[in-house]
Amino acid sequence: MDFQLSEEHQLFQRTVREFADKEIAPKALYYDKNHEFPWENIKKMAALGLLGVPYSEEWGGAGGDSLMYAIAVEEISRACGSTGIILAAHTSLGSAPFYLFGTEEQKRKYLIPLARGEKLGAFGLSEAEAGSDAAGTRTTAVLDGNEWVINGTKNWITSGSLADTVIITAMTDKSKGALGISNFIVEKGTPGFSYGKNEEKMGLRASVTSQLFFDNCRIPKENILGQPNDGFKQFMQILDAGRISIGAMALGIAQAAYEAAIRYATQRHQFGRPISDFQAIQFKLADMATQLEAARLLIYRSAWLKDKKLPFGKEAAMAKLFASEVGERACHQAIQIHGGYGYVEEYHVERYYRDIRLCEIGEGTSEIQRIVIARHLLRELKHQ
Ligand code: CAA
Repeated sequence: MDFQLSEEHQLFQRTVREFADKEIAPKALYYDKNHEFPWENIKKMAALGLLGVPYSEEWGGAGGDSLMYAIAVEEISRACGSTGIILAAHTSLGSAPFYLFGTEEQKRKYLIPLARGEKLGAFGLSEAEAGSDAAGTRTTAVLDGNEWVINGTKNWITSGSLADTVIITAMTDKSKGALGISNFIVEKGTPGFSYGKNEEKMGLRASVTSQLFFDNCRIPKENILGQPNDGFKQFMQILDAGRISIGAMALGIAQAAYEAAIRYATQRHQFGRPISDFQAIQFKLADMATQLEAARLLIYRSAWLKDKKLPFGKEAAMAKLFASEVGERACHQAIQIHGGYGYVEEYHVERYYRDIRLCEIGEGTSEIQRIVIARHLLRELKHQ
């Protein structure tokens, strides 16, 4: 057993942290306050190869692994949660389906520019009736000659109205329920594809969350991913992997909150001494640091399992569940340590608290993670 990151991973971590501290963190408050999409961050991350970390160079990626990708999301989210979710949604949701299920031609056409960061990707699964119940999709795709005709509405799509390509789920055989869903590639600008309003969110305000409309939207027959009706199993695998990155995002935000709290505790004086002298504060810091370290181990281990091509679905769900819940608590406590200052924006911790809240909801709620974990446990018991 080796609990140390390899030299290559350590170097990668240092590089991304320095980059994020210098280039991303200074404008995080500005972007959040102005609800402005951080295009500048996207360009800079692309130049560093961060928009295609886990994909091979052949397909425009940086040739890294899942562990490096988790580290990248953690470090970027430590600097700016909004940029973290844009990176995670682009990589795990908007690009991975091409990498996993795309044809050579689809990879050449779509994955290469996405992984190079020349284009932005999104993934459209959620609908009014299909949230936790991912099979509840009402969007339909019907083959008409050489085209699929898509009708329906998608909700809560990260980067949806900005992305160059959106992979969407649609029902192709209603009689088969979950196993009658397929995934389709829709390019920005396709007639019949339009956007609703971007959501006014509690946090992650520099990221865009959109509603997408498909009204007799016609796409070429070849814009299906894999075989018809394979969609549910495809996106279950996509979500398994995506959960590692949402865990990493929570960890990065909470790490920033913890660092702000410990710094503040040594600087803030009350009763004639720094508040870090008081056990009430020390216990909070100790709990935060312990829980974040445990979250980091779960996240890195699930990424490591994935890289070893071992089953990782249960561990990824555990990592996301744990990191988002202890991370939320750490952000909550960071505000408590800051007192009144924690409640105003200049001290950043109120933003961390707002931003991290999404991690208990997106890519499967905490309740869904518990269902996924329990199903794995019961299946394992059956096979003992
Ligand atoms: N990998 C491969 N196949 C899988 C799988 C996996 N992880 N999980 C299930 N399947 C297969 C099953 O084996 C089954 O196939 P068979 O019948 O051939 O065995 C089929 O898929 C159906 O499986 P279930 O009966 O288990 O499906 P279910 O309807 O009970 O749903 C669920 C299971 C776990 C609750 C699932 O609906 C789920 O994960 N829901 C959460 C959805 C989610 O995460 N939504 C977030 C959207 S994305 C987002 O938030 C984006 C953002 O920008 C933040």
